[in-house]
Amino acid sequence: MAAPDFDALFAAASRVQRRAYAPYSRFRVGAALLADDGAIYAGCNVENAAYPVGACAEAGAISAMVAGGAEAIRAILVFGEGAEPVTPCGACRQRIREFAGPETPVAIAGPDGIRARFTLEELLPASFGPANLPR
Ligand code: THU
Repeated sequence: MAAPDFDALFAAASRVQRRAYAPYSRFRVGAALLADDGAIYAGCNVENAAYPVGACAEAGAISAMVAGGAEAIRAILVFGEGAEPVTPCGACRQRIREFAGPETPVAIAGPDGIRARFTLEELLPASFGPANLPR
């Protein structure tokens, strides 16, 4: 398996971040993931006038991956602006967990480039996942 191309993930996430629908928070986020089929899938946050209905960028990227027929996340990059690194929210860490392993890299980027890199295990230790459920 070739190493993930984080430059390609950065390009895809920064491109889709500009399309985010974030009229309420004005905080636009893009996410891009490398899937097990070798393709990159991207998503942006899509907010809603009924605030809790809004969706995170990571959720959009994962939906695109599943709709595209892929089954696993090899690497994911989240792109957001502001001074602080935009790490995935708690719910999105669990969403990523469904399709990734403990060593899956999660890169955090801003307009200046990649700011931090974690493994999924670092962001969501001792997690619950598909194997916890009886077959
Ligand atoms: N948001 C994401 O899309 N991904 C993250 O990792 C953090 C937060 C979105 C949700 C909401 O639309 C806006 O950013 C402000 O929280």
